[in-house]
Amino acid sequence: METTLVLIKPGGVSRNLIGEICRRIELRGLELAALKLINADRAVVEEHYAEHKERPFFGSVCDYLVSGPVVALVVKGENSVKAIRAMMGATNPIEATPGTVRGDMALSIEDNLVHSSSDVEAAAREIGLWFPEGLAR
Ligand code: CDP
Ligand code: MG
Repeated sequence: METTLVLIKPGGVSRNLIGEICRRIELRGLELAALKLINADRAVVEEHYAEHKERPFFGSVCDYLVSGPVVALVVKGENSVKAIRAMMGATNPIEATPGTVRGDMALSIEDNLVHSSSDVEAAAREIGLWFPEGLAR
């Protein structure tokens, strides 16, 4: 059993896509193990995207993540890391397959609606960062 972190970014929250994204996760047979709507701390966001610190988009993606509320989710299930990455689609929504969240609901890389952990190690780190209080189940 794996756990992975999903963030619904401010654009997804402001477009009222929380229900649609959670619906897809639950329909797939994956379980929500933790869920909250929060205004993220910039320090948490910078730590979350630490691997991208030297990239030109680091400042703008961090600005974006603190521009409004985000939903943080922990998703639990067999192979949940890979399953969720596939469901969210390619980073650039223009290249994301129809049927994925990004391929169905997004058009720009700056506002690609969701984050999901890239591998099991990243998932463990990100879950600890976003849910220091622990999971509900
Ligand atoms: O989110 P994902 O793991 O698919 O992509 P990433 O390569 O880890 O990049 C993190 C986030 O930075 C992306 O989801 C985009 O929101 C943003 N980004 C961007 O704004 N411009 C880029 N050229 C690449 C990424
Ligand atoms: Mg990534």
